[in-house]
Amino acid sequence: MKGIEDYIITIPDFPEEGVMFRDVTSVLQDEDGFRLAVDLMQKKLEGLEFDVIAGAESRGFFFAAPLAYNLHKPFVPVRKKGKLPRETVSIRYELEYDVAELEIHRDAIKPGQKVVLIDDLIATGGTNEAMIKLVESLGGEVIKAVFLMELAGLHGRERLKGYDVDAVITYP
Ligand code: PRP
Ligand code: HPA
Repeated sequence: MKGIEDYIITIPDFPEEGVMFRDVTSVLQDEDGFRLAVDLMQKKLEGLEFDVIAGAESRGFFFAAPLAYNLHKPFVPVRKKGKLPRETVSIRYELEYDVAELEIHRDAIKPGQKVVLIDDLIATGGTNEAMIKLVESLGGEVIKAVFLMELAGLHGRERLKGYDVDAVITYP
């Protein structure tokens, strides 16, 4: 039987020289790979009591939506600036060479709700840190963050100290 690592194609020197790019689309485009990825992420949530799943645009949606569907929880999209039509809260955060802004609908999370964060990948942890701040600004409690892939060399976990962070597959 194939493991999840067998479905992830690594592209050397993308998007720039020296980067080993772990391509999530190679998992998605295989029906067994996609199912295995969702199942393995879902295992990380076994026995956990929570209210809401929040996922990061865009690649986080690939997994957050099926997990929310399977577990019969609300799915809250955290989107890039200017996409959400109702009242939002937003946060600016640093990318490697740029700044970005993420938004969440103000009514998407109620004070005291327990929230699980989902994304395909953690690199520097900047995206997830921004999501945590958004959820907490609405009074939600982030009880776990689950990723399909972790790029350990970029030390994202250190940025999320004190939070329960879990990944299905960790690359050095
Ligand atoms: C990627 C990925 C994560 C984030 C991880 O998204 O899907 O959300 O980067 O990087 P970080 O840990 O350094 O923040 P990206 O911002 O490229 O957007 P996309 O999902 O729309 O491709
Ligand atoms: N794969 C996908 N997204 C990424 C990567 C990667 O290796 N590094 C930073 N963002």
